[in-house]
Amino acid sequence: MWPFRRTFRLKDTGLLNGFTDWHSHILPSVDDGVRSVERGLEILDLYAAYGIRQVWFTPHVMEEVPNEPARLRERFAAFRARYTGGIELHLAAENMLDGLFESRFEAGEVLPIGKNGNHLLVETSYYNPPVDLSGVLERIKSRGYYPLLAHPERYMYMGRTDYERLRTRGIRLQLDLFSLAGLYGDDAREKAEWLLQRGMYDAVGTDLHRKEICVEMGGYRLTRSVIGSLERIIRDDTLNR
Ligand SMILES: [Fe+2]
Repeated sequence: MWPFRRTFRLKDTGLLNGFTDWHSHILPSVDDGVRSVERGLEILDLYAAYGIRQVWFTPHVMEEVPNEPARLRERFAAFRARYTGGIELHLAAENMLDGLFESRFEAGEVLPIGKNGNHLLVETSYYNPPVDLSGVLERIKSRGYYPLLAHPERYMYMGRTDYERLRTRGIRLQLDLFSLAGLYGDDAREKAEWLLQRGMYDAVGTDLHRKEICVEMGGYRLTRSVIGSLERIIRDDTLNR
């Protein structure tokens, strides 16, 4: 094997030591993620074994899954009361940019993300942008939030020029770590590597929905150059500042 093709298992890279997972569906029974408290706690034990230090729960909020912030806060408090481990747990949301978001945002009913609470994690359909993507991102910014776009590499309708335009306009991008392992196909992996090499990501998350993936993830293989780029983002830790 050529040296530049050498790969390393995620759990041996040191990247997860002190890692903050900025995107997860571990809060039980609120979306298509984890189904039970027990399963959620098991995942956190696996996270602790990987060395992960902080986790943001980011349940879906969308027209099909209209989680209300107040109810999510209650569910989060109940879950946290059951957790006795050492990982810092936080609550935000993954906001689909649909009509529900527009009305909730107008009413100030959103769950921000980041140490200073000045980011909003947002997503779109994988196939089509919302009618007025540009407008909604500007409205988010005009209220003092950084839009943080989840897994940009997985949107089939987005290409390199779109990413460059978004970054120029002050939109922040969040890598789905598993895109690099090929979980979402070659196209998503190639886009992720392209964005990563250009330093265009500000945060990293797993978008974890199931315990099985959590067990497997330690074995995901990454190249040396990908590891180096990831180290820089994790060290910069933009959202924790
Ligand atoms: Fe997600």
